[in-house]
Amino acid sequence: MPTVSVIYFSGSGHTTKLAEAVQKGAASVAGVQTNLIAISGDDIVKGRYANDEVFAKLDASDAIIFGSPTFMGGPAAQFKAFADATGPKWYAGAWRDKLAAGFTVSSGPSGDKLSTLHYFFTLAMQLGMIWIGFPETPMNDKGIKPFEQLQRRDGAGGTGGDGRCAQRGGQTDRRIARQARGRIRGQIEEVKFG
Ligand SMILES: Cc1cc2nc3c(=O)[nH]c(=O)nc-3n(C[C@H](O)[C@H](O)[C@H](O)COP(=O)(O)O)c2cc1C
Repeated sequence: MPTVSVIYFSGSGHTTKLAEAVQKGAASVAGVQTNLIAISGDDIVKGRYANDEVFAKLDASDAIIFGSPTFMGGPAAQFKAFADATGPKWYAGAWRDKLAAGFTVSSGPSGDKLSTLHYFFTLAMQLGMIWIGFPETPMNDKGIKPFEQLQRRDGAGGTGGDGRCAQRGGQTDRRIARQARGRIRGQIEEVKFG
């Protein structure tokens, strides 16, 4: 059965809401099992992330979706500590051809989220993964409420939410996050069964 894992860090809970929406979207597709994995600061000792159980789940996944708030124009340090711990996977080519996607959240409508999304993409490319971008075209704004446009503009490489929106319940962000499921499902079928 195809497995989609969402691995994320959240400092104050906003990214958690998006992560739950992404996982819910993936889990709503028949025949897909999911893991929702929070990166814990307790697993970072002397700056190094280590958790064998988490990596065993990721090793067994067909798709891995990265999530982090945007902190100081990039992923949170806790996410980067996790990313650095994927070095052995890079060396062994262990995650090659797995599917990858990502999402982030910030307090500013832009907030430099694109840097975080680009980092997720770069990490995926380092690991030889296959990146799944967000399928909506951000340039056609007709019929889209201005606030929703903000959510989409920097989401071309993934999905970018707004911290204030997530704080309020994040319906727009969570809808966009759930929408990604069909694309991820389609890609899994292509890679696993095509
Ligand atoms: C250390 C730190 C750095 C931050 N840097 C940015 C930033 O560069 N751009 C921005 O728009 N928001 C920034 N924020 C706001 C967070 O991205 C925002 O509050 C987000 O919703 C937090 O997500 P979380 O609840 O999952 O931790 C920063 C917050 C913190 C604590």
